[in-house]
Amino acid sequence: MEYRDLRDWIERVRDLGELRDVRAATWEEDIGRVTEMLHHTDDSPAVLFDDIPGYPSGFRILANANATRKRLALTLGLPVDIERRPLMDRFLELTEQGRALAPRVVKDGPVMENVMRGDDVDVLKFPSPQWHPLDGGRYLGTGVVDILKDPDSDWVNLGTYRVMVHDAKRVGVYISPGKHGRQFRDAYFTRREPCPILVVCGVDPLLFIASTLEVPQGVSEYDWAGGIRGEPYEVITEPVTGLPMPASAEIVLAGFLHHDKKAPEGPFGEWTGYYASGERAEPVLEVEALYHRDDPIILGVPPNKPPYEPHRYREYLRSALLLRELKAAGVPGVVDAHCFGVGGCRLLNAVSIEQRYAGHSRQAGHVAAMCRVGAYLGRIVIVVDEDIDVTDINDVMWAVVTRSDPERSLDIINRAWSGPLDPAIAPDVKGHNSRMIIDATRPWEWRDKFPIAIGPDAETKRETRKKWGHLLAPQPAREKVAR
Ligand SMILES: Cc1cc2nc3c(=O)[nH]c(=O)nc-3n(C[C@H](O)[C@H](O)[C@H](O)COP(=O)(O)O)c2cc1C
Repeated sequence: MEYRDLRDWIERVRDLGELRDVRAATWEEDIGRVTEMLHHTDDSPAVLFDDIPGYPSGFRILANANATRKRLALTLGLPVDIERRPLMDRFLELTEQGRALAPRVVKDGPVMENVMRGDDVDVLKFPSPQWHPLDGGRYLGTGVVDILKDPDSDWVNLGTYRVMVHDAKRVGVYISPGKHGRQFRDAYFTRREPCPILVVCGVDPLLFIASTLEVPQGVSEYDWAGGIRGEPYEVITEPVTGLPMPASAEIVLAGFLHHDKKAPEGPFGEWTGYYASGERAEPVLEVEALYHRDDPIILGVPPNKPPYEPHRYREYLRSALLLRELKAAGVPGVVDAHCFGVGGCRLLNAVSIEQRYAGHSRQAGHVAAMCRVGAYLGRIVIVVDEDIDVTDINDVMWAVVTRSDPERSLDIINRAWSGPLDPAIAPDVKGHNSRMIIDATRPWEWRDKFPIAIGPDAETKRETRKKWGHLLAPQPAREKVAR
């Protein structure tokens, strides 16, 4: 790896020419607005906000971190000029189970530079932004890693679950139903036991990405990301909770969630592009200990209308994981898969296959809709033939409108896994949703008689571009000659 922690990563991004420093942007308005602009602009830089009015110089926020393929490649330790499919293939190799590396426990690290306990805890010392105008509060935790442990085993789970500031010593943590952290939390609550938790705001970007992805059941994201890095993460056993905290984290809040201590959380601008889950009573973390580095950096990944920053990297990584899960489920002939950013990499996924037998395309569609990567808050899965480019929404929709016929091509799955964030489900019945599988492959029974597509095929296209691509280069405008 070319970097050791978030700070090192920022310097490597500076070397690539993809970092901008911004001073004096306000937490009330500017930072949220600028981040939205960056999220919705292709190839936009990462931005480090400093000198935020009302806060000490050096208390910084990093936004738009992994918005380009170059920066994602840097995060994964891959060549920065890598193309889409090699990136996905290398990512899958790096996350093969045998590579996982458990973290190494150390006694000290930069996160211990500032330690506050009890009365000294002050979460308001950080410049948490108001990311969207209608948010119910300031969110310190957006690019956050929440660390919880299974009460019945040694499994330590890292998940990105948002964190809203209530006051100097209390924050609210929202975890959607079904997420691993929620299953752990609920297991403590059922026993009326306090649930230990660490909230990490600002951490090595690879560990953050791991905490946002569907890492296999029972596998700690520490081990999984350590395997990609080829080196164990260093962790310190946090004294209040006994949980492992990253030694080079920027900010860590430690304490417990309780089944009977809740406060209103939200509304918050969410990844579907709406303030959909509104305001609900959610568990409060009473912060018992606070740790931070000198001049801490908050990693800011606030949701915006999709596609926004994480979708730019999740299009590669979730698509790769979907490919792996289809193959693991025994679906043969899978050529490619794509989780579209416009659907937040969840609501609209496409799979291409080389059809081998009757029923094959439906099998691919149903597995894609219900495997671990596809199950939570999905909506539409489209299955296409191998000649369709699954990353090109025009190509995929062309297949839908020319190869499918609604009467024979649609399946609906009812009562699937959804939750409060689903904007299409009425507020009082949220929990389940349905899925549509669109089989946009040539019908198996008469595939040989299906009209021949005009083409050209991908190879012919490449040849034409090689020979004739110069015609597409911009020409200088010819000056008008006065007559
Ligand atoms: C930027 C970002 C923010 C997220 N915020 C939340 C959140 O507030 N609550 C939640 O339950 N999931 C959230 N997620 C999704 C989870 O982090 C994701 O599903 C992850 O796989 C959960 O880990 P788990 O599978 O170990 O539970 C977020 C994802 C991203 C990329």
